[in-house]
Amino acid sequence: MNRQASLADLIRETVEAVQQEAEQGLETHFLPEGLDKVLPLPERRRKPERAAQSDRATSLEALYERYHLCTACALGHQRKHFVFGSGNENADVMFVGEAPGAHEDEQGQPFVGAAGKLLTRILNAIDFTRDEVYITNILKCRPPNNRDPRPEEIDACDAILKEQIRLVQPRLICALGRVAAQALLKRNSSIRTLRGRFHDCHGVKLLVTYHPSGLLHNPAYKRPTWEDVQMLRKEYDRIVQSDAKAT
Ligand code: URA
Ligand code: URA
Repeated sequence: MNRQASLADLIRETVEAVQQEAEQGLETHFLPEGLDKVLPLPERRRKPERAAQSDRATSLEALYERYHLCTACALGHQRKHFVFGSGNENADVMFVGEAPGAHEDEQGQPFVGAAGKLLTRILNAIDFTRDEVYITNILKCRPPNNRDPRPEEIDACDAILKEQIRLVQPRLICALGRVAAQALLKRNSSIRTLRGRFHDCHGVKLLVTYHPSGLLHNPAYKRPTWEDVQMLRKEYDRIVQSDAKAT
């Protein structure tokens, strides 16, 4: 991408973010943070070298160490496991779900139950393996009976996910389901209105699609989900190609 194009992207994404925040009557706190994350594009585009990879692994590990005993919200007192995330610490693509369920709480790994098995199949269908991508959730601890996360729980967990995004530096984020989409975009819109296009999340392109557990119950979501993940794969291929050209 040349400087003109990246500046145009920056302006478009900034305008979109400011409009989104205005829609919700929020302060435009996006600007300074978004700018400092997006502006040094050439830096961010480079894939980390081997030495940097081990630094980064240490940092995700440090992040885990810092939070795995967290009791900032009530869920921290009820969990069996803190479910941090899994996959490639330098992944280009990050998948973010809602919260651990019973199986995840049991095993300490995200997306290992029925929805997780379906997520693995979806990933494989677009030629990704679980080891290539990074998988995590908005909440790191299981809500009782899998009830929806509460706003104060999402707020308490927000810093962890923000740090994970900063450390992994994915090029693309895929929000799985309404809770993840709304928390990441800080919008209350439905999946139906958010899916099918890219949004901005801390300077990273974000795509919204249905949650795999939604698909298990609503076959009608299969087709739009298939369209969304193909769009994700296409954008990933485009980014890889334009990186190759730039070097
Ligand atoms: N290949 C990678 O190295 N990372 C991804 O996230 C996807 C494919
Ligand atoms: N559903 C989620 O949102 N996340 C998981 O890890 C498992 C099920």
